[in-house]
Amino acid sequence: MAEPVTLAVIGAGNRGGDVYAGWCLAHPDQARVVAVADPREARRNLVGDRHQIPPERRFARWEDLLAGPRLADGVIIATPDQLHVEPALRAMELGYDILLEKPIAPTREEVLKVARAAERLQDRGGSVTVAHVLRYTPFFSTLKGLLDAGRIGHVVSIQYTENIGYWHFAHSYVRGNWRREATSSPMILAKSCHDLDMLRWLVGRPWVRLASFGSLLHFRPEHAPPGAPERCIDGCPASESCPFDAVRFYVEALADSTGWPVSVITHDLSREGRLQALREGPYGRCVYRSDNDVVDHQVVSLEFAGGVTAAFTVCAFTEENTRTLKLMGTHGEIRGHLEKGELEVRSFVPQGTRGSGREVLHVPAGAGHAGGDDGLMAAFVGRLRARKEGRVPEEALTSLAESLESHLMAFAAEASRREGRVVEAG
Ligand SMILES: NC(=O)c1ccc[n+]([C@@H]2O[C@H](COP(=O)([O-])OP(=O)(O)OC[C@H]3O[C@@H](n4cnc5c(N)ncnc54)[C@H](O)[C@@H]3O)[C@@H](O)[C@H]2O)c1
Repeated sequence: MAEPVTLAVIGAGNRGGDVYAGWCLAHPDQARVVAVADPREARRNLVGDRHQIPPERRFARWEDLLAGPRLADGVIIATPDQLHVEPALRAMELGYDILLEKPIAPTREEVLKVARAAERLQDRGGSVTVAHVLRYTPFFSTLKGLLDAGRIGHVVSIQYTENIGYWHFAHSYVRGNWRREATSSPMILAKSCHDLDMLRWLVGRPWVRLASFGSLLHFRPEHAPPGAPERCIDGCPASESCPFDAVRFYVEALADSTGWPVSVITHDLSREGRLQALREGPYGRCVYRSDNDVVDHQVVSLEFAGGVTAAFTVCAFTEENTRTLKLMGTHGEIRGHLEKGELEVRSFVPQGTRGSGREVLHVPAGAGHAGGDDGLMAAFVGRLRARKEGRVPEEALTSLAESLESHLMAFAAEASRREGRVVEAG
């Protein structure tokens, strides 16, 4: 049996510490976490203890983990959005194979800087894989296979909706880490670079131009119910009718849950621990009195090479937390629902026999981004193993070159939304 590959984790939060390092715990024959960097001592030691990492390999600063020489076969960079660039550039200098959380960086200039550095890696060894997990889901890879097999002829147009889910939006984009552009990224980048990447991948052609609209419409102080206090826990008169009541959500509805999103609000998941987090931390704030500024809905109209079009909607105000889409081709259409794992293919032939060309595929949905988290880790670790065994690893499905365009599309959409103009690629 081959030795497991070794990994260093920079940013031991939800993604680095729980999702990716968690995958290694579930697959000990394939990968081991041997070093960790996180300024939060509790997280550092939690992950350090889970993986039996010796004290000298637990770092408070990523700079020390990456001081050189290399400590592992690969490194996972899962720091907050604003803290991806510097560790990524340094890890590239050391020739690491890198799994870099999306977004690559919050600004166009920084993304291009990382991309230029990644281009030079070929001479030096190492690689950058961007964590665009959706490409690794059975749902989207099956859909891509259907398109490549010509099941609906040539794709002409796509409708794609990212249904964030009202509670998820309130958690991450009103109260949580992604609520302010200055401390994270524009919402279309933070949340939807995955989906813009999917559109680009499914269409299989470069984008040509786009236009975008959207705003922060609802989660504003003027929409607070009369008498609503700063925190839900302080006796809000509207608690019964408010969909965003934090006590009902984190303490009552999720009482039996210890995973995301409650694991984000506190380490003490007892009832009292949760209540304390709601009294003191950001997740207890009234959604109308937070310091959020990112949009709560946005649409992007896109034209790709050859005249293919797409209409993308991302919205907070949905009951489901999933992606739904309809692809219209010259010989048929496909409707998809990610969470249900459902792909319905309707063929236009044979003509005149409506319904006979209909097939519904059920794709296993899986946990963690519909199986994408596991798929990404398996592929990343597989490439590390190939390199370790002297084989040439396959190009990642989400190499930095592949992932770049989605980020440029997101920046263009943001420019269009703010400036009220059509933005051309290039
Ligand atoms: N691929 C996906 O689908 C997906 C999903 C969610 C989040 N993300 C992205 O993953 C990244 C991490 O998100 P998260 O939800 O794990 O956030 P998190 O806040 O749970 O984790 C980030 C961790 O980085 C640590 N950190 C902060 N400064 C650091 C430093 N200087 N050196 C080392 N560690 C440092 C924090 O202490 C924290 O533990 C973000 O960029 C986020 O946008 C990607």
